[in-house]
This record gives sequence, C-alpha cells and structure tokens, in this order.
Amino acid sequence: MMTLVWIGFALLLIFGLVVVRGAPYVPTRRKLIDNAFKKLYQLDKNDVLVDIGSGDGVVLRAAARRGARAIGYELNPVLVIISRMLSRSSLVSVRLADFWMVTLPPETTVIYTFGDSRDIKKMYKKVEQTATRHNKILYFISFGFQVPGVKEQKKDKSFYLYKVAPGTLQHR
Ligand SMILES: C[S@@+](CC[C@H](N)C(=O)[O-])C[C@H]1O[C@@H](n2cnc3c(N)ncnc32)[C@H](O)[C@@H]1O
Repeated sequence: MMTLVWIGFALLLIFGLVVVRGAPYVPTRRKLIDNAFKKLYQLDKNDVLVDIGSGDGVVLRAAARRGARAIGYELNPVLVIISRMLSRSSLVSVRLADFWMVTLPPETTVIYTFGDSRDIKKMYKKVEQTATRHNKILYFISFGFQVPGVKEQKKDKSFYLYKVAPGTLQHR
C-alpha cells in the first residue's frame, strides 16, 4: 500500500514539475490531428515533423501513418517510455530532452506544438531561430494557441499554421 502511495507521489511530482518548463500533459485527439494533416497541412513522406513536447506520441504516430519521419522531444520520462512502447514505427523517434535546450535537426520541415499561452510566442521564436540557423522555410503548427502579433497562413478548427522564413520577424 505504502509503495503505491510513493509511486503515486512520484508520478504527481514528475507530471507536476514539467509545468515549470512548459505545458502540462494533455494529448491532441487522434481524429483531430489526422484531419489537420490532411486539411491544414498535407503532411507526406518528404516531411520531417518535430513535436516539441511530444506527450504520449499521438502526433508522431499520426505523422508516421502519412509516411513522414517524426521526432519527439519530451521532458517527462514516463511519457517517453509510454510513447516508445506505443510507437513501433521505424519512422518515429522520441528523445528525453527539454526542447528549449536542444537544436532541432536540420532536416526538420514542420514543427508541431500543443503548448500554452505563456510560451507560444517564445516557441514561435524558437521556430524562427531554427529556420534562420538552417536557412530554410519551416512550417509551424500550433494547436489551441494563436501566436500573438503574427499572421497565420491558415486556420482549421483550433489549429494554426504558420509559414516561417529564415531571418524574418513578421510581427503585427
Ligand atoms: C499539451 S501536451 C501535448 C502532447 C502532444 N504534443 C500532443 O499534442 O498530444 C504538452 C507536452 O509537453 C511536454 N513538455 C512541457 N514542457 C516541455 C519541455 N520544456 N521540453 C519537453 N517537453 C515538454 C509535457 O510533458 C507534455 O507531455
């Protein structure tokens, strides 16, 4: 009984502590993301999608179903284990890391987030920095949160699509 209490406490601590660095764990619904990859941005085998804060990997698996490579960065070790268990495709990889601290791979074409209002502008800046660093256009999909002061290219339900060019700052 005491062991269960300790396990519960440890899980609470792990899931709770992540909030200091970003959004808490709430998964995007599978049906919604499948739809967004058809209607908002036609993801295909030429894409490499990066999910910053990949949770249980639901978005990574949706990307792999469309033939894209998918890389997730996740701070919560429990979710990293779960997503690795659930994502058997060789197209999916999940890294235990704080996405603020990593340089996103040069082959990235699309960056996805289900973030929060506190961090969304900073996340957009990270995408801009990545586009500038690799000198290429990147697409940024934000679920649930519009980037203040930046015009989206497209919107579908709660998904916002931004086209981010290297070295540009398109604030309103
Ligand atoms: C709202 S959930 C979204 C999960 C997934 N992207 C989805 O749409 O289903 C946010 C996730 O980001 C993770 N997270 C928050 N801050 C993070 C950080 N700094 N580095 C890596 N992961 C982070 C949380 O643990 C959580 O799993």
